[in-house]
Amino acid sequence: MTAIPPAGRIIYALDVPDLAAARAQVALLAGHVGVFKVGLELFVREGPGVVRMVHDAGCAVFLDLKLHDIPATTTAAIRSAAALGTRFLTVHAEALAGMPVKMGEIAPGLAVLAVTALTSLDRAALSAMGYKAALCDPARLVLKRARMAFEAGCAGVVCSAHEARRVRAEYGPGFIIVTPGIRPADVSTDDQARVATPAQAVLDGADYLVIGRPIRNAPDPVAAAAAIAAGIAAALG
Ligand code: C5P
Repeated sequence: MTAIPPAGRIIYALDVPDLAAARAQVALLAGHVGVFKVGLELFVREGPGVVRMVHDAGCAVFLDLKLHDIPATTTAAIRSAAALGTRFLTVHAEALAGMPVKMGEIAPGLAVLAVTALTSLDRAALSAMGYKAALCDPARLVLKRARMAFEAGCAGVVCSAHEARRVRAEYGPGFIIVTPGIRPADVSTDDQARVATPAQAVLDGADYLVIGRPIRNAPDPVAAAAAIAAGIAAALG
């Protein structure tokens, strides 16, 4: 993939309750991060208006809806997201099973990324959901779903930095890897269990890093984003 500037690799999670709060965050951080992630909380409340607001600020959107439905419904929702002009859209890897068309053919220009396994799922939770023993290892499940994503024509995956190196080795430089669970070394891990520093994540092959609280809760969010970008730049030499 062509070189992405360090700050451009930061996907900032707009985990705020409403449009006004989102607008303030975009005004503060536009130019200091690459992409703004609009998730379920904000999208369910504000709808496409929040996507338009980010676009009006000249920034790109990562629409994190983790779609999971029958192929016809998922395909229609992908087209709806493409019509909004978002750069990235997430679908749940389980929604790829039985998909009759390649993801890249549904909406050329929209990067559809598969969420491999929610980081909230541990071995016990996967077992309780009925997964056979071999797939109760979250890392193995992620790798299996990365294969599903690749074969379904997804532009890439969302996975933990801990699996990024193996996904990169398996699917090469053109497959986009987005990793959440990123924490600078001196910052609280909050509720994230399997964390990595920004430098480690890019060294392991991540193209983009989803980062929310380490920037939002910092005393100076712009300085925090700049420090993260500097760490990425240093790691990539
Ligand atoms: O950096 P912070 O922990 O605040 O970022 C959390 C964001 O990353 C949330 O928006 C969450 O939805 C997202 N995310 C995650 N783990 C995943 C996928 C997405 O934490 N596996």
